Amino acid sequence: MSGFDVERVRAAFPALAERDGLTPIFLDNPGGTQVPRVVAEAMTHSLLEANANLGGAFRSSRAAVQTVSEAHEAMALFLNARETGEVIFGQNMTTLTLHISRSIGRLLDPGDEIILSRMDHDANVAPWQLLARDHGLTVKYLPFDLESYEFDLAALADLLGPRTRLLCIGQASNLTGTINDVRAMTAMAHEAGALVYVDAVQFAPHGAIDVQALDCDFLVCSPYKFFGPHIGVLWGRGEILRALEPYKVRAAGDGLPNRFETGTLNHEGMAGTAATVGYFEWLGREVAGQSYRTRHESAPPRRRDLLAAMDASIDHETQLTRRLLEGLGAFDGVTIHGITNPNALGRRVPTVSFTSDRRRPREIAEALGAREIYVWDGHNYALEPAGALGLLETGGVLRIGLAHYNTAVEVERTLEALADSLA
Ligand SMILES: Cc1ncc(COP(=O)(O)O)c(C=O)c1O
Repeated sequence: MSGFDVERVRAAFPALAERDGLTPIFLDNPGGTQVPRVVAEAMTHSLLEANANLGGAFRSSRAAVQTVSEAHEAMALFLNARETGEVIFGQNMTTLTLHISRSIGRLLDPGDEIILSRMDHDANVAPWQLLARDHGLTVKYLPFDLESYEFDLAALADLLGPRTRLLCIGQASNLTGTINDVRAMTAMAHEAGALVYVDAVQFAPHGAIDVQALDCDFLVCSPYKFFGPHIGVLWGRGEILRALEPYKVRAAGDGLPNRFETGTLNHEGMAGTAATVGYFEWLGREVAGQSYRTRHESAPPRRRDLLAAMDASIDHETQLTRRLLEGLGAFDGVTIHGITNPNALGRRVPTVSFTSDRRRPREIAEALGAREIYVWDGHNYALEPAGALGLLETGGVLRIGLAHYNTAVEVERTLEALADSLA
């Protein structure tokens, strides 16, 4: 067992505590995570002390400027961006993707090809299908192996060609949980002259993101999936963001990040996002243990703490996932739609989807919900993978999504409840 003090972690999250005699087991983390108290406090502080438009000649306006600038710095740290201006805040990943797709579309000509994936959430599929419709682009789909739940890079090589302009892929699936080799896929797409757009929404709570190491061109994530508020973040390579034509009002600045941050920003969400990154740093500094920080001694101190937090979280989550997969695998009639090999858990996030030949996902979710165990059922907006797996007509999957604040006891209680409902 690792020395990860999960009770200390949980104490930071008021929503995980007992209330009115009920203690929820929160396992819908891929749908959206709970927030630590520091995040809620930062948002309250922003609303009460820094609630003004940017650029005014008064104190609360200056405070708001500081909030916005700290949020960009925090996310630049989180993503290891070269410049803070490469970080664009918006409503959520979907809206940011629809927004930037319009500018990316200006680079594309009829007959150009884009590659979308059969493993992705619809937010990294539908915006590009719409763009293709509007610009006369050809869409090709990258399949995944229905037994290994992974992409075959040879299949990507077959799809890439002289007219490929864009590859859109997820870093981790919100249905199968597979972590994709974005770095290798990016290198292949770049070789063919295509841009790469990465959906890191599901990966972000479960691993450190390094846009420089991935070498992708765009990457999107959503702080509400990694213990922050409801807001979205788009990172783009500086030279590309500067070269794209922004869809913006004339009065908005033309520099970065302003040219893509249209309208008034969600200042309180940005304050909460900066506090979320601060929470990870605290986790790395105070909870993860020295050995995790030592691994990243060469990184700047804030990034080192962040990386230590992620590593410690991954180790804890992996132990829980191993037990969950083992327990699920022992039920008759259960099919796990994702990697189950205990030696390959590094290639998946702790998001485990399954179906049972005895009960529909909704029935199982209701049985668990009645016991204060919160899970999700359905296609999870992952229309492509749910379709590829033939699950769209049968209620999708039952998804159990772990996070670093879940415990071994919670996993056991969930397996006990499942034993009853799947009997
Ligand atoms: C993999 C993935 N991509 C994109 C999204 C959409 O994110 P948002 O709600 O920020 O638009 C989700 C939401 O569940 C997701 O799981």
